[in-house]
Amino acid sequence: MPKLSVNIDHIATLRQSRGTPYPDPVDAAVLAQLGGADGITVHPREDRRHIQDRDVLLLKQILQVPLTLEMALTDEMVELALAVKPFACTLVPELREERTTESGLRVLGRESILQANVKRLLDAGIFVSIFIDTDVDEISAAHSLEVQYVELHTGPYSLAATPDEEDEQFKIVVRSAEHAKELGLRVNAGHGLHYHNTVRIAALPLVDWLHTGHSIISHATLVGMERAVREMQELIRRAARQEF
Ligand code: PXP
Repeated sequence: MPKLSVNIDHIATLRQSRGTPYPDPVDAAVLAQLGGADGITVHPREDRRHIQDRDVLLLKQILQVPLTLEMALTDEMVELALAVKPFACTLVPELREERTTESGLRVLGRESILQANVKRLLDAGIFVSIFIDTDVDEISAAHSLEVQYVELHTGPYSLAATPDEEDEQFKIVVRSAEHAKELGLRVNAGHGLHYHNTVRIAALPLVDWLHTGHSIISHATLVGMERAVREMQELIRRAARQEF
């Protein structure tokens, strides 16, 4: 059964949108852990638009489940990872103008550029995973960097507009996972997975970790809504009765 690492970036997005100290992604991580998350994932981006270094450092100190950093393979991020020593780093491409990671890391033909920083992470005992498009040549190129994991990009599967297209994309995910396994890579999957499309991917015996964020954070805002409003109403009623 795949393990679930919950990406809590969007709790930080909400915090940063107002510059308040809340909601704190560290609180969210603790609650996710209580809810059964097998791991927590965060993506400290170059522009620090959501997750801050302080979040990463605190998470590493308090979590009892593995912490994964999604990150661009820049010197700055490698330094942060070496200071924090997470369970794993998932290497992603990063474009400043994108809303979320849009594609897998392009490895083919860039192996020699990527090698040195990958090795720094591996030498520090950090598992390295490469977020990769479902393309056998890219997966083989990732394997040549001697990383332990690839994370298959499930975005095209998640975005499929019709059942036929979803079937087609699912087959591509399966073929990619089999290719990665044949090479000896461990296989993770993620991006765009939500409550209606996770089952097929989670049923794949080849998948080690699922990395899911946006759908879980979105669901949490809705399933928590009634209680949040009830608690504010209760506070107002007590105030009206002069009960402080
Ligand atoms: N995996 C990677 C590499 C990602 O960049 C993201 C988005 O941060 C995810 C998984 C999670 O995607 P989502 O938020 O759509 O579940």
